[in-house]
Amino acid sequence: MAQPTMNRIDARAKVTGAAKYASDHNLPGMAYGHMVTSTIGNGQIVSMDLGAARAAGGVIDIYTHDNQPSFPGALPGLAGIFAETRHPLADREIHYYGQLVALVVADTIEQARDAAALIKVTYAARPPKSSFEDAKRSPADPPSLPGLPLGQPIKKPQDVDIEAALAASQVRVEQTYDVPPRHHSMMEPHAAVAAWQSGKLTIYSGTQGPAAHAMELAAVLGVELSDVHVVSPYVGGAFGGKAFTWAPALLAAAAARALGRPVKVVTSREQLFTVTGHRAASSQTLALGAYRDGRVTAIKHHTTCQSIVEDPGYRTTPKYYAAPNVDIKLMVTPDMNLPTATIMRAPGDEAGSFALESAMDELAVRLGMDPIELRMKNYLESTLIEGTPYSSKHLDECYRAGAARFGWSRRSAQPGAVTDGDWLVGLGMSTAILDSGRAPTTVRVTFRPNGTATVACATSDAGTGMWTIMAMTGARALEVSADRIKPALGDSWLPVVGNGNPDVYGAVGSAATSTVTPAILVAAKEAIGKLVEHATTAEGSPLLGARDVRYEGGSLIGAGKAVAFGELLTLTRSGEVGAQGTSAALDEGYAYASYAAHFCEVRVNRWTGEPRLSRFTTVVDAGAILNAQTARNQITGGVLFGLAAAMFEEGKVEGATGRISNANLADYLLPINADTTEIDVHFLDYPDTRLSPTGARGIGELGTVGAAAAFANAIYNATGKRIRTLPITLDKLLA
Ligand code: MOS
Repeated sequence: MAQPTMNRIDARAKVTGAAKYASDHNLPGMAYGHMVTSTIGNGQIVSMDLGAARAAGGVIDIYTHDNQPSFPGALPGLAGIFAETRHPLADREIHYYGQLVALVVADTIEQARDAAALIKVTYAARPPKSSFEDAKRSPADPPSLPGLPLGQPIKKPQDVDIEAALAASQVRVEQTYDVPPRHHSMMEPHAAVAAWQSGKLTIYSGTQGPAAHAMELAAVLGVELSDVHVVSPYVGGAFGGKAFTWAPALLAAAAARALGRPVKVVTSREQLFTVTGHRAASSQTLALGAYRDGRVTAIKHHTTCQSIVEDPGYRTTPKYYAAPNVDIKLMVTPDMNLPTATIMRAPGDEAGSFALESAMDELAVRLGMDPIELRMKNYLESTLIEGTPYSSKHLDECYRAGAARFGWSRRSAQPGAVTDGDWLVGLGMSTAILDSGRAPTTVRVTFRPNGTATVACATSDAGTGMWTIMAMTGARALEVSADRIKPALGDSWLPVVGNGNPDVYGAVGSAATSTVTPAILVAAKEAIGKLVEHATTAEGSPLLGARDVRYEGGSLIGAGKAVAFGELLTLTRSGEVGAQGTSAALDEGYAYASYAAHFCEVRVNRWTGEPRLSRFTTVVDAGAILNAQTARNQITGGVLFGLAAAMFEEGKVEGATGRISNANLADYLLPINADTTEIDVHFLDYPDTRLSPTGARGIGELGTVGAAAAFANAIYNATGKRIRTLPITLDKLLA
């Protein structure tokens, strides 16, 4: 069956500039805030000379730790794990280079920036503890966080002696895989425009979870949740960076309240690297023990990381391969003088899959076995630790279909065997698995007299295609064309389940489509029920008093008549008719995940060591594909995101200062078109009806998972060099 597909309904608004992102909002009387950040990595502010800045043209006020704008409430519970532990401008302590030290508010953005440059800060500096390379040698146990699975050791069986199990295995590999810090680098920076009226806040702020953002803002600002309105219909990329509330939104809101006028705060590209979150560096030791026939007997997956946010062992090993002996552990390097870590696209999964899928390739080499055959020998039908069956898994077909599309059978197992002029050509593959799920969610469906219907939910579209998915799903549920469905999202006042529940984040965990679409079906059914009732009871209805009225294709049918819903609502002069519906809870009897098999071809110049991506094929099993175009966009973007980690990305921290020396998009390298190639994406089509009636599973982060390993494995096949530290740059290939 052909998968449904549709152009993005927001495409025209985006390419014409009609789509208004947070910082595109300009309000009457608005002032501009510009953040100032520290130039030491550890120590204290001794004094701040604000005289020249205060005297500069247009300056309204300058906030520092001495006159912090009011944050009466505590930070939300998950701050300190996923976001900053301190209020903005909390005190004179400096914990990392690039920490916020002041907010200058002026009549224009130019005046705010100019004045900011006149501020002189005197520091008492201490040597920063900013080197992860040093810190990882003396890691500590992670904090124990009730209710959070991250950071907790996992063993199978409970008393496993993993070293003994590894020692007893016939073949072993054990290596350490290092991943540097990475930054989300979304196109739209964190920005907020805040305005208060009669004690109520309206804030335009790019977020993945409008309702969660409102809860966090209300908590910190010390106001009722109902007094905070987050508006965020368009988000220019997020990747986890906009899942939690960061200083720019808090400062805009607090300064606007203090000044009694709207305030806009936009983060500079350099500031994004430090005042908002990043993916922490990690170092993983991965050991695999196996029989000579390829059956894995033992897996040790030990990680050291700056933060428990990134837990590659927990996120990876329990869902990939069968093994009787398993030991997963996370250690952390606490109190480092580094910016705060947060979730970033496939948190834990990206780093974990690089280590595990590289190690599997190393094991295949050691065994002299095809990497796909090795994976099939250890195929999991249920989760490794609990043994929970997977709802719907066709990874085996991904391997087979991918191998055929890519021409895997033409691969030589001998490294360096294939050349093309000055280029060594290598092929590599990897597995990608991403947990999938959904949360009960509320959607409102409303019929309107003009013949359209709204489908509303406080979810977010960070470029993912959610606007379009909501229109398509609404069209399917109401049996009308998608252009008659008007989605509403990106607004904290729209329906969402669990207000007051901090677990409601909106578009995270690649779960927006799987979460929202089943709720649309439920709400549509409720709304149709209301509409039928209306048709038979409302004054002016041609079907007044009729029996057995039914809804079909946008019309009410009964008593030998058919009335379109728009016509009905016009005749009854009732405005609109609609209802909310909430999706049922997930069936906990299954484990849910999306799968892909990645295949990568690289070329490495034999003289310069320059690695180039030349081909990439991925075959994806993500349940029902609700929009083939946006699904493909997501996988393509995800694969490139993972390949960026393989090829380029690294936040470089200067040892002596703790400064990120490449905190800009000239020096922090990201792939451009010349660095990539057509990504061949093929979707299997197995709707996961155990997950939900729409059968859709997660896609957004899946492409990212495993992509770096496929690249690294191809590099090995091309060169015989096993690079275990990302990114794989030419200096490492020349060494
Ligand atoms: Mo994703 S890192 O859950 O936004």
